[in-house]
Formats: sequence, structure tokens, C-alpha cells
Amino acid sequence: MLCTRNRALHCREDWLWSGRPVEPAAGMLANQLMTDFIATNRKHWDAVTPGHVASEFYDVESFKQGRDTIDPVEAELVGDVSGRTLLHLQCHFGMDTMSWTRRGAVATGVDFSEVAIEAAKSLAASLNLDTRFKVGDVLGLDLNEQFDVVFSSHGVLGWLPELRSWGQTIANHLKPGGRFVLIDGHPVLWIFDDERTDGEMRLRYDYFSREALAFEETGSYADPDGPATNTLERLHPIEDVLGALMFAGLTITGFREYDQIAWQAMPHMEQDGDGWWRLPAGIPRIPLMFSVGATR
Ligand SMILES: C[S@@+](CC[C@H](N)C(=O)[O-])C[C@H]1O[C@@H](n2cnc3c(N)ncnc32)[C@H](O)[C@@H]1O
Repeated sequence: MLCTRNRALHCREDWLWSGRPVEPAAGMLANQLMTDFIATNRKHWDAVTPGHVASEFYDVESFKQGRDTIDPVEAELVGDVSGRTLLHLQCHFGMDTMSWTRRGAVATGVDFSEVAIEAAKSLAASLNLDTRFKVGDVLGLDLNEQFDVVFSSHGVLGWLPELRSWGQTIANHLKPGGRFVLIDGHPVLWIFDDERTDGEMRLRYDYFSREALAFEETGSYADPDGPATNTLERLHPIEDVLGALMFAGLTITGFREYDQIAWQAMPHMEQDGDGWWRLPAGIPRIPLMFSVGATR
């Protein structure tokens, strides 16, 4: 269901509960900045994806042997998907989407990187998996179809210039009563300097600034020897994430914070036996990851 004018006004009141100004809608962000975000980040993802497919981090070989890439947090929050239609947003080269297929879902993965979607399609074909993949920008996506579950996880929001259109995409693709699950890095983590190697947690980025952050980097979390690329990123405060979903007319059904994250987001993080990365013992804990559940 789309927000009607009245509904939008109602959502807007909900959204303003925090008393803070609303995040600018897509049309209010400089058009050039929106275009730059998509073009710059697409180029980045097209460039790094081949290295990711070959990386130890993604370990495609064990996936081919049957490894399930859905982690326990995702499994618990999404629940039983057998026979359900599931839309996976920002699916990268699709191992999680295919894992949902293996778990019985009728799964569709969407990503704006053609290189990633080509890799996903070829992996699915090699495994004879009936997973559908489409190239698309989550900010303007219209598959003309609604799903029982919309899902997105681990390293997704920071690439998006704004979240209002993202929330609308989720609402537009959910059946009435359908469920949305998001799991991602916590924005509180992103305020710390992630280039320090001495283990000190030093504040570097402003939680509330909502400015575009331009980075030049060589390699990536999955492929340290990967190509040099530019990215444009944004720290989205939690209130913008929840606000975008509420503004799109969704009802928030759950919110949790975790002292663990799926990748080594800071140099001094340590990987535990359960596979999650955490701050070393002795450092007071902060939220490293969060999850949101919502329904339409
Ligand atoms: C860290 S990856 C996804 C995480 C996934 N859980 C994984 O590890 O495979 C982020 C993905 O977001 C995609 N992406 C970034 N901005 C996008 C946009 N505006 N629309 C669609 N996909 C986007 C990138 O192409 C990339 O594949």
C-alpha cells in the first residue's frame, strides 16, 4: 500500500515523535549528489565483485558443496520461508538469496551491480537453483510484484544516499501482512575512526551530520588486494531508518541491538568461535549491529 496523502500526514506525525527534523526526501537532496552516489558506488561494486567471488571471505567453494550462508540472527528473525515468496534487496552476488531458495523460499535477489547479478545468475545456473536475479536500484525499484518477505542484511544502508525511497520500495513490494527484516551494522559504530590500528576507540564522524562521506580505498573487506575505488557513503541515524519505514506506512514490530557484527569493521575486532566479530574483552561494549522487523 502506498502512503496516501492523509496516510502520509499520519505517518509524518509518527515520524516526528523524536522532535527532530525529517530526513530530506529524495527530491530534496541535490539531484547531482543522488546521481553521483549511484554512479560512484555502482562502479565500486562492479570493480570489487570479481575479487569477492574468488575470496576466502565469501568461500564460494563451500557454498557450492551446500554451506548455508544464512546466519542464526537472520534465520531466527525471518523464520520459516518454505513456500514463501522472498525479495532480497542488495543481494550482491546472491549466495544468501540462493540459501533462502535452499531453505524452501521462492527467492528473488536484486542488486544494482550488473557484474554482481551476472555472477549470481551464473552461480545459480551451475547449482541448478531456481533463484531469480534482477538488476535494479533499490531507491527506484518497481518489480510490479509483491512478496511475503522482504529481506536485506549486512552492509546495505551506508551505500544509500537517502532512505525515504528505500522505505517506499519495501512497502511497495510487500503483500499486506508481509514482513520486512533488516540486519545491518549499527550507526553508532560508524562514528568511530576505523583506520586506527592501536585499538583505541576514537570519535571521528558526526552521528547527526547526515553528510555524504567520500572515500578512496584500495581493496575491500573481502578482498584486501582488490582494486582502488572511490565510494560515497552515509551514516544513517537509527531514527532515519525507523522513520523511513514508518513514513512508508509500515508498522515496526521489532528492534534489537547486538555486540557482534558479520565482518571485521575495525582493525582490532576479534572473530569469535561463533563466527561473529566483536570488540576485544576489556573494551566497554557498544552496539555493533541492529535488526528491525516491520509489517505492512
Ligand atoms: C555489502 S554488499 C551486500 C551484503 C550481502 N549481505 C553480502 O555480503 O553479500 C552491498 C551490496 O549493495 C549493493 N548496492 C549498493 N547500493 C545499491 C542500490 N542503490 N541499489 C541496489 N543495490 C545496491 C551493492 O552492489 C552490493 O552488492
